[in-house]
Amino acid sequence: MKIIKCEKLKRKPQVVSGFGKIFTDYMYVREYADGKWDEGKIVPFDAMALLPCSSILHYGQGVFEGLKAYRNERGEVRLFRAVDNFKRMRTSCDRLCMPFVDESEALGALEELIDLEREWIPTEIGTSLYIRPFMFADDDSLGVHAAKKYKFVIILSPSGAYYSHGFAPVALKIEREYVRACKGGTGAYKVIGNYAASIKAGEIAQREGYDQVLWLDGSERKYVEEVGAMNIFFVLGGKVVTPALNGSILPGITRDSVVKLLKASGVTVEERLVSIDEITDGAKSGALTEIFGTGTAAVISPVDRLGDGSADYIVGKRGSAGEIAGMLFDRLTGIQTGRLSDDFGWITRID
Ligand code: PLP
Ligand code: COI
Repeated sequence: MKIIKCEKLKRKPQVVSGFGKIFTDYMYVREYADGKWDEGKIVPFDAMALLPCSSILHYGQGVFEGLKAYRNERGEVRLFRAVDNFKRMRTSCDRLCMPFVDESEALGALEELIDLEREWIPTEIGTSLYIRPFMFADDDSLGVHAAKKYKFVIILSPSGAYYSHGFAPVALKIEREYVRACKGGTGAYKVIGNYAASIKAGEIAQREGYDQVLWLDGSERKYVEEVGAMNIFFVLGGKVVTPALNGSILPGITRDSVVKLLKASGVTVEERLVSIDEITDGAKSGALTEIFGTGTAAVISPVDRLGDGSADYIVGKRGSAGEIAGMLFDRLTGIQTGRLSDDFGWITRID
């Protein structure tokens, strides 16, 4: 692949912390025009020029993905479930009438970019290289229709924990006013507008002392859907329960990994409608013993507090992760970093 070299490389940080704040020297860019993709190239990470009439700025035809690469003390560089992210990106593109590149070509480009940037991958526990592929429309006209020009870009960000408190539990607010998505909309896809629509509720929740909101379904506001950047699991009456994918929930890759890991350990997982009343009743009676979220950025995030108007429920032991969340975090990060065997074939090694 064509590589345009940086004149000067950046200084790599000694210690990596925080999420998505620093970026590596290079990025990958591939452009679509006249009905076809160009060859794609690796270029210095830099500003991208857009005309003020670029369609992405007006109508939001844009999608993204998030995945991670790990480098362990043996020097192995390991990508987690990258093909699944590109497959999901294709479904997101399709929902917004955008063309997508071949998944294996996207993976090949990513592997080449990561190989070039491998020294940027942090090795300390809890760190990784967060990978952000994204694609956007770039037509120079104001008509509302599927654009004819697109850019597919991959940027890399050495990152620590998504939440500032790391694996420590977070607090969620049950969101009764705003909705994130409804059936027939774009909730099941990783399209940029979903995130714009969710910011207001998230800001209010943060002002009220919560980390994120727990979204309910868009029509009845009766059933649990997911969290701002995570899918959600409950341990209720000794059973692991998670909302079934219903067309408005993002089909999380970590969610799928967790379901598979639990099933492989002999733990039954119920994927079904989960009413919010069942959750608050369980919190009151003590039948609800654990809540945790799953997502690429957050990995496994225990939840110890659930707010609902004036009520605040403490779930499990305040300040500590529950037993199942702890086990899953250990198993998942073990596979990701190479401490445990990759029995599901989730890892792509970049050697
Ligand atoms: N739900 C939403 C809205 C998200 O943004 C994410 C993060 O990607 C997830 C769930 C979890 O998905 P994944 O496990 O694929 O990262
Ligand atoms: C991810 O987990 O990769 C996400 O995309 C979440 C987010 C930062 C929007």
